[in-house]
Amino acid sequence: MSVKLAVLASGSGSNLEAIAQAINDGKLLAKIAVVIYNEPDAFARQRAEKFGIPAILVNHRDYKYRKALDLAIIDILQQYDVELVIMAGWMRIVTQELIDAFPERILNIHPSLLPSFKGIHAIEQAFNYGVKITGCTVHLLSLEVDSGKILKQKAVPVLPEDSLADLQKRIQFQEHIIYPEAIAEYINNF
Ligand code: GAR
Repeated sequence: MSVKLAVLASGSGSNLEAIAQAINDGKLLAKIAVVIYNEPDAFARQRAEKFGIPAILVNHRDYKYRKALDLAIIDILQQYDVELVIMAGWMRIVTQELIDAFPERILNIHPSLLPSFKGIHAIEQAFNYGVKITGCTVHLLSLEVDSGKILKQKAVPVLPEDSLADLQKRIQFQEHIIYPEAIAEYINNF
């Protein structure tokens, strides 16, 4: 059984690429039916094209309220018969409408060991705090930001000589491993 995914991305889309690659490599029995992006120049669009995946711009600036944005997104997700929604660097706060449309069917990745360092600039927050271990977390999406049930985590050490960029690279390397794995495990339990 191949589960139909949608990936929502705002920026580079490196997690999108890792998931698409895991599918191509036969490690994840799924299909990305559609990519939705909200920043017109998001590199995620080019990555979607590379994999032959339709990419649709839903620019949040065209919507007056968060709810209207999410209703437009729900419409696309339903058009593409999406069964599982993958947030991969989607930098918008979601509404109850989206959560209710896909109950327990929206996953997110966050670049810290939740519940530490929620919100934006999580890697920088952890780095500035001086933590010696941080990491990344795949979790179910909930209304409260970065607070849903945790599905998978990977710890990443902060080395004394690390720059912020070094740490970011090491965390993202692990994200690209655990996100496809977490999706595969979650789908297995459908
Ligand atoms: C990822 O590191 C992801 O964990 C983070 O954005 C990056 C997106 O990278 N998400 C958050 O900070 C959510 N609060 P990508 O566009 O290259 O996949």
